[in-house]
Amino acid sequence: MKPSKAIFAEVIRLRGEIEQHNHRYYVLDEPSVPDAEYDRLMRRLREIEAEYPELVTPDSPSQRVGGSAISAFGEIRHAVPMLSLDNCFDGGELADFDRRVRARLGKDGDVDYSAEPKLDGLAVSLRYEQGQLVQGATRGDGSTGEDVTHNVRTIPSIPLKLRGSGWPDVLEVRGEVVMPKAGFEKLNALARERGEKTFVNPRNAAAGSLRQLDPRITAQRPLAMYCYAIGEVRGGEMPDRHSAVLVRLAEWGFKVSPEVRVVRGVQGCTAFHEDIGRRRAELPMDIDGVVFKVDSRAQQTELGFVARAPRWAIAYKFPAQEELTEVQAVEFQVGRTGAITPVARLKPVFVGGVTVSNATLHNMDEVERKDVHVGDTVIVRRAGDVIPEVVRVLPERRPATAQAVVLPEVCPVCGSAVVRPDGEAVARCSGGLFCAAQRKEAIKHFAGRRAMDIEGLGDKLVDQLVEQELVRDPADLFALTVDQIAGLDRMGRKSAENLVAALNASKQTTLARFLFALGVMGIGETLAQALADHFRDVHALLEVRLEDLIGGEGVVGIGPKSAQAIVEYMNRYVAAPGDALADDTMLNADVLGALNIPQLTATRADALAARFPTWGALKRVQVEDLVGGGTRVAGIGAVLAEQIVGFFAQRHNREIIERLLQAGVTWAVSTPNADSGAQPLAGITLVLTGTLVGISRNEAKDALQALGAKVAGSVSRNTRFVIAGAEAGSKLTKAENLGVTVLDQAGLETLLRGEIPGT
Ligand code: IVH
Repeated sequence: MKPSKAIFAEVIRLRGEIEQHNHRYYVLDEPSVPDAEYDRLMRRLREIEAEYPELVTPDSPSQRVGGSAISAFGEIRHAVPMLSLDNCFDGGELADFDRRVRARLGKDGDVDYSAEPKLDGLAVSLRYEQGQLVQGATRGDGSTGEDVTHNVRTIPSIPLKLRGSGWPDVLEVRGEVVMPKAGFEKLNALARERGEKTFVNPRNAAAGSLRQLDPRITAQRPLAMYCYAIGEVRGGEMPDRHSAVLVRLAEWGFKVSPEVRVVRGVQGCTAFHEDIGRRRAELPMDIDGVVFKVDSRAQQTELGFVARAPRWAIAYKFPAQEELTEVQAVEFQVGRTGAITPVARLKPVFVGGVTVSNATLHNMDEVERKDVHVGDTVIVRRAGDVIPEVVRVLPERRPATAQAVVLPEVCPVCGSAVVRPDGEAVARCSGGLFCAAQRKEAIKHFAGRRAMDIEGLGDKLVDQLVEQELVRDPADLFALTVDQIAGLDRMGRKSAENLVAALNASKQTTLARFLFALGVMGIGETLAQALADHFRDVHALLEVRLEDLIGGEGVVGIGPKSAQAIVEYMNRYVAAPGDALADDTMLNADVLGALNIPQLTATRADALAARFPTWGALKRVQVEDLVGGGTRVAGIGAVLAEQIVGFFAQRHNREIIERLLQAGVTWAVSTPNADSGAQPLAGITLVLTGTLVGISRNEAKDALQALGAKVAGSVSRNTRFVIAGAEAGSKLTKAENLGVTVLDQAGLETLLRGEIPGT
């Protein structure tokens, strides 16, 4: 049957709408309709095209998903060669470039440059004839590239058909195909989940994705193309400024980096370079520098080319984020909880703007996975402020003398045995506070800003105090004298006095901070707060029993919602024909796992099996058998409970706590419900966001909690107020969406006086 006029019109309308949404979403980064609406339009288009195959055109958005695979890449000779760029690495070289440009142009004043990010991906040339995409090619050697037309068609930010009007008969558009960082992380997470190989960096991922014979694979990769140049132009005119060319390209539907600016002279270039350099880590994609191009195209022509690069453009590169170097040794560091971390000692190398000579290898599993040997040549990466890491080994460069890394049997610091429980990645020193390394880390943690907040007690100082045996545990800190401290390296009398004063000031704290400072394994700030709220007094914790933390009739870790889900599932399962399990089947996490019970994580499955050892016992389970009494303190399950009880039962921990209390460490004892006079904000849940003036978020949090408020980390319907400082972000938006009252600094001050705004 031939399509009716109405069907014909509908197809045209659908394509227009879909491409419009594509353009808004992928090119302008401003989604216009919910996904469901988009999917509905696409489904309808596919439906019609399936019924009337003669209506399918190559520029139909339905054709982006990827057609059939090709057997090999064809070659494409570029009508206009794809040039490369000269590089410069510092301000002096940039100034030289600008001087050369002005000398050649015979110009005294400043030159206008188009300043652009140098995207780190793969250069591609697109060819449009009569507004239709007819070809896509990689750069190759600059004169001949590979035909990747089948793949570029799947990239949603590349128009299959030009928008607007006025385009030349033939137009070649050039740019960089990149994989944004977020998409890269997702892709790698998925690969890890499936046990597949991961990509080393977004650039390799982009290149690997574009150089696929099967376009259906490319179609699934989160690629984008940013356009920055034109190649052949026939049968039409382009604007006479490069910046105007980019604007025109954007009008025709291409994605152009929103970072592009026109700047004036060397100063303008330098400011642009610095600004983007500062924001590099936050940009959605990797860049390896900035590019400056003489903006006037007439001047470009006048300047011409040398060899393969234009005289009118230069790339000002950032320091490389990846470099090659050698692993000279692998040493083992001991952390606060005794965790032993392998650290690669590297031949010093300049990467990411600093000299790097160490990189963490995290744990032995990581060493084995990356197969790092001493003597290996490795790629190290340092991006932004992140800790340098070994990306991978170059196996082809491994010398015959390379040595495997072995976990030491004894702690390198104290000589105690190293233990690594089966199936665990982390090895630990069993020396506890006997180990100087653990002592140092425990004291650094104790003094930390979010713990006891002892101002001026830095890491170097703690190292010295422990090494000179002035301090063995946190309680010793408060016995330090000005004379003792003043005798240390790089400490004067004045700083010693300041430190003693800071130590004294830190004694007035909160129970939550105190508990966090003790460094119980597994107790972070949130759990410390939960324990403080629950027990209110450290003496109660000194006597804590397992059943005070968990226990009762229920199952640890199962709340009312999951209990409901589990019971409903069991009822359906039992009612279904063919109950496969015999009543006396013994249960464990594996058997339960195989049943696919919703919400049943491995930990919960263990707990469930411990309480209901057989299938017969479990299959008639009721909600009340599962909840009620399970966890007594929010967030504390069986494993943590044992660690907490174990910690407070240990003699030396009890001694340290007693000595800390004797030294005068104290906090306001709060009994919220009994004494509401002191707790004017009891029952109020608040969220703090943004930068506050004159008070840190942590200080504000402590003060509000002392007044009885609950300070939560995220905004929900239960939030009474959101206190928003400067540059508040998503939490503020969420508050506005939920209609939660937003307070400013003045509102915070009202709260801190114990008054509730608006009442
Ligand atoms: S213009 C005639 N602009 O850098 C000049 N290139 O080192 C041709 N690149 O092959 C290139 N961002 O892959 C230009 N904004 C930008 C760029 C850029 C990245 C890449 C491109 C080129 C390489 C040269």
